[in-house]
Amino acid sequence: MLILGIESSCDDMAAAVVRDGRYILSSVVSSQDAIHKKYGGIVPELASRRHIETVIPVVEEALNQARVTLDEIDAIGVTHGPGLVGSILVGLSFAKAVSYVKDIPFVGVNHITAHPMAVFLEKIPLNPPLLKGDTGGLSHLTPSFPFIALVASGGHTTLFKFKDFGDYEILGQTRDDAAGEAFDKVAKLLGLGYPGGAVIDKLAKTGNASAIEFTRPYISKDTFDFSFSGIKTAALNYLKKTGDRFEICPQINDLSASFQEAVVDVLTDKAVFACKASKVNNLVVSGGVACNSRLRQKLHNKSKDHGIQLFIPEPSLCSDNGAMIAAVAYQLLKKGVRGELDMNAIPSME
Ligand code: KG4
Ligand code: ZN
Repeated sequence: MLILGIESSCDDMAAAVVRDGRYILSSVVSSQDAIHKKYGGIVPELASRRHIETVIPVVEEALNQARVTLDEIDAIGVTHGPGLVGSILVGLSFAKAVSYVKDIPFVGVNHITAHPMAVFLEKIPLNPPLLKGDTGGLSHLTPSFPFIALVASGGHTTLFKFKDFGDYEILGQTRDDAAGEAFDKVAKLLGLGYPGGAVIDKLAKTGNASAIEFTRPYISKDTFDFSFSGIKTAALNYLKKTGDRFEICPQINDLSASFQEAVVDVLTDKAVFACKASKVNNLVVSGGVACNSRLRQKLHNKSKDHGIQLFIPEPSLCSDNGAMIAAVAYQLLKKGVRGELDMNAIPSME
């Protein structure tokens, strides 16, 4: 089954062609970073207007790279929430139109719960590889249910327990800023532009993570909830106290490393705590923040120490993409789910 996955919930327009919910034939992402950079964050109206210009070329590019035509597509998966309503509506309306004209089904997909599903995907140039052992046909291992999933992105920081495809419970989430949002806000304070996660990650590599004291906000030991706005404020207070102009803060690398370490510690500890408390030893971590090199390293070490099997998609599949949407769509279609033409965008959903 060939599924076209479309993702437009925020500032990226993404489309992918995925075979049987697993094999990525193509995955194209058109970023709007250059448009929003000067505002230090996403301007929703600009995002949706740009999506209108990019949706057709991005889908065409995904079809071309997969060497298929629209007539060969069996179904469409599209994000219908959560996210920016204007942005979601562009992808959703496009998917409905194609579904109607080509007489193929479409399904609406929850963006946040799609992030962990990227671990079941594999990029292949042409045909699926031969079946190998118990990997479900993929050349890499996949988690077994139940597993704990941490999604850390620009809009969400959520811990899930997945019992099966589409069958999950939310264990905890951020009470204020998302982890990626904290990275982006600190980057903005430092004049590093938007989005800031990858820049802080890079600067932190040559910084001293113990140079500046940041309290780790665990809220309390027995909750799976997060809070990141305090760390961001601590960074602001530090900058005010030292009296540096943010852009020329001489300790920019140390500040980046110390801030990053605090966020990474909390994410790692909570994810492992959720596995222990749930007696589950498979952990999936995804979302844009899962691209962070220090987070990947710490998760790897700590999971090993606790006998937890860790699964993190490759960076391009951690950040927003259409393939993860197609992966969920495949599971929903198998269950007989079909989208109706009156489906609406849902800005907040769990
Ligand atoms: O999942 P994603 O692509 O979009 C949302 O659904 O939000 O995540 C984007 C977020 C941004 O906040 C960005 O700064 C952050 O992921 N991010 C990173 C890194 N790469 C992207 N954060 C920390 N370190 C990185 N290397
Ligand atoms: Zn996302």
